[in-house]
Amino acid sequence: SVPWWGAAALCTLALCVLLSCGLCVWRKCCSRKKKGEDKEKRSDKKKKTDGRGLDDEPEGEMSDLEPREEDQLGRLHFALDYNFTDNMLVVGIIEAAQLPAMDVGGSSDPYVKVFLLPDKKKKFETKVHRKTLEPNFNETFTFKVPYSELGGKTLVMTVYDFDRFSKHDAIGAVKIPMSSVDFSQSLQEWRDLQKAEKEESERLGDVCLSLRFVPTAGKLTVVVLEAKNLKKMDVGGLSDPYVKIHLMQNGKRLKKKKTTIKKNTLNPYYNESFSFEVSCEQIDKVQLAITVLDYDKIGKNDAIGKLLLGSNSTGTEQRHWSDMLANPRRPVAQWHSLKSEEEVNALITKNK
Ligand SMILES: *[C@@H]1O[C@H](CO)[C@@H](O)[C@H](O)[C@H]1NC(C)=O
Ligand SMILES: *[C@@H]1O[C@H](CO)[C@@H](O)[C@H](O)[C@H]1NC(C)=O
Ligand SMILES: *[C@@H]1O[C@H](CO)[C@@H](O)[C@H](O)[C@H]1NC(C)=O
Ligand SMILES: *[C@@H]1O[C@H](CO)[C@@H](O)[C@H](O)[C@H]1NC(C)=O
Repeated sequence: SVPWWGAAALCTLALCVLLSCGLCVWRKCCSRKKKGEDKEKRSDKKKKTDGRGLDDEPEGEMSDLEPREEDQLGRLHFALDYNFTDNMLVVGIIEAAQLPAMDVGGSSDPYVKVFLLPDKKKKFETKVHRKTLEPNFNETFTFKVPYSELGGKTLVMTVYDFDRFSKHDAIGAVKIPMSSVDFSQSLQEWRDLQKAEKEESERLGDVCLSLRFVPTAGKLTVVVLEAKNLKKMDVGGLSDPYVKIHLMQNGKRLKKKKTTIKKNTLNPYYNESFSFEVSCEQIDKVQLAITVLDYDKIGKNDAIGKLLLGSNSTGTEQRHWSDMLANPRRPVAQWHSLKSEEEVNALITKNK
């Protein structure tokens, strides 16, 4: 028979083997998880630096503390009122709170888009608020709509994170069927943001531009860098996109320039530069209308989408313009989501 110390030794050995096996498996699991995380991080970083690669933020270890609940997207404070004299829905975007940090630096640059479905053309945007998770928007927008038609509509307020170098990420949205609101008095409410649906149907594509203003030389330079995910204009085929730039004042076209045509692509790369003579006194009065078109040998060239940049523009376009003015002589690049031609033309008429 085995002496007691022999049995004890065997037991200890068995325990050791078991333990080390366990440790091995645990380590494997761990390293696999870590690898996966690293990969994700890298692709994330790549995404960020993709456009013009000016993102020099330090890598910044993400804190490995409690993972954030997926559905904690923050809250939005808004006001709703219907003006029966003028037949207008009045939407106040007051503030947001507890927004998630979307940037590496642990912050976000939030702004809100407001529209009234099913109409996606008419859309408002608040100003972009820099580096805050508690923005105070305090802006009011009005939709002209007869009261009898209001019930069939849904108000959507989507909070986005502004990102100069990539597409703007939707943080979340609040959707309110107008039939559920009692308009006999004005209403003010906080609501949790819900996961925003992709706005695929209205996506026309994105364009990256660089703007530079040299006040002493009276020169405004636009570089059309590239575009991506342009909407297909022909069924089946790709497009032959080019970009037209109009310098405008009071709704009138002063100058026109255009890029070359890129064949058979929805992701054209241009890197083409255009300069306009614009004096210091004039810069606050002019606007740039940027139109992306599909070249058509036979028919009329279709506009894929359009943008209006200037002191009077709104949202992310206004942001780009004011960043350009705040950095004289320096080129400032930014991605923009294209808007429909009708929507932008309506803005141009309004500014006449
Ligand atoms: C709303 O209604 C009031 C009268 O009740 C009017 O004075 C005001 O101009 C209207 N329009 C807006 C946009 O508030
Ligand atoms: C909101 O804006 C109005 C007018 O623009 C201003 O009078 C008011 O003080 C602002 N409120 C806050 C909380 O910023
Ligand atoms: C873009 O064009 C400029 C000047 O025409 C050139 O110096 C630069 O290298 C180009 N960039 C790329 C990435 O092709
Ligand atoms: C900006 O808009 C206002 C009113 O909406 C208008 O009076 C002004 O002329 C516009 N400025 C430009 C540069 O279009």
